Amino acid sequence: MDGGYNPEERRRDACTTRGINLDGGRDAGSAEVGAVVSTSASAERVGRGDAYELVQLANGTWSVHARRERETFHPVVGPVAEADALYVRGLRLVERMAAKPGEFVLWDVGLGAAGNVLTVLDATRELPGPLRVVSFDRTLEPLRFALGEQRRLGYLARAAAWVEALLDRGRVEFWNGRQAVVWEVREGDFPTLLAGAAAGSLPAPDAIMYDAYSPATNPEMWTLPLFRRLHGRLEPARPCALTTYSRSTLLRVTWLLADLFVGAGGATGEKEETTIGANCRELIERPLDRRWLGRVRRSTSAEPLTEARYRQARLSAIHWEQLERHPQFVG
Ligand SMILES: C[S@@+](CC[C@H](N)C(=O)[O-])C[C@H]1O[C@@H](n2cnc3c(N)ncnc32)[C@H](O)[C@@H]1O
Repeated sequence: MDGGYNPEERRRDACTTRGINLDGGRDAGSAEVGAVVSTSASAERVGRGDAYELVQLANGTWSVHARRERETFHPVVGPVAEADALYVRGLRLVERMAAKPGEFVLWDVGLGAAGNVLTVLDATRELPGPLRVVSFDRTLEPLRFALGEQRRLGYLARAAAWVEALLDRGRVEFWNGRQAVVWEVREGDFPTLLAGAAAGSLPAPDAIMYDAYSPATNPEMWTLPLFRRLHGRLEPARPCALTTYSRSTLLRVTWLLADLFVGAGGATGEKEETTIGANCRELIERPLDRRWLGRVRRSTSAEPLTEARYRQARLSAIHWEQLERHPQFVG
């Protein structure tokens, strides 16, 4: 298995082939860990809107499912358990926020139904330092849908007033326990926003939760030009880490070629391993090494997407040269 990209990765529901790599390998952590209660024909699905519905997972929790994309937002362990493993613990947010003097800036790429943000707010409410959350999404419909389903979604109940204000005004300030929070949302296409002049006014982040749909469904959110621009928004003197659910070779090569340091991220319940990137080595506990480079050589899905069209290909010679010269592998 080469960690080749699995376009079904993570987000499809139980009626698809989640867990099987197109490269023929079995993706780490998969359907047997837990899944939607049963196939789409009989899984409990409620709150049907045109675009979104709720599905109940094997552990009893509920998650939003996007009908057009055929992807479930947090498909195995549910919103809170996944966000806690992948973002709160994966980005060491409590420790890093507690240690940072002044405002901590968190980018939330793919706001969706706000499961990730609200799990972070729960975990950090006793920290006195101010927090600024900048959420990005092309649509606020999943959040509106989720607000109407707060009884089943649970994590929204405490935050309903904040979410309503965010939906009304695009920005809300509140006290979350001891923590002063500013939460704002930038609605629109994220790649377009990063490529435009408005990107210059974005506050540089200390951490990024990267949660788009899978590349096969959502290729524009996984291209090399996009991650190069994202890297350009980081401040060299401001350590920043980002994580996402994928452990694919394609994603890891893309982040390395965008000048990030990259390592193995922790397990989420769904997967044994995810991916963490950063603009400084110190934030990466388990950096990818030269042995991993050998796997890249053999992978049939390592070439970054250069445009918003999904395809799988071996790494090109030019990108291989750039990868070998990356400071992570030199010296
Ligand atoms: C898997 S959902 C995110 C779930 C969310 N993080 C949560 O905790 O509920 C992916 C989100 O990415 C957003 N998205 C997809 N493509 C986008 C784009 N080009 N620009 C901005 N947002 C995008 C979708 O609208 C969707 O809400």
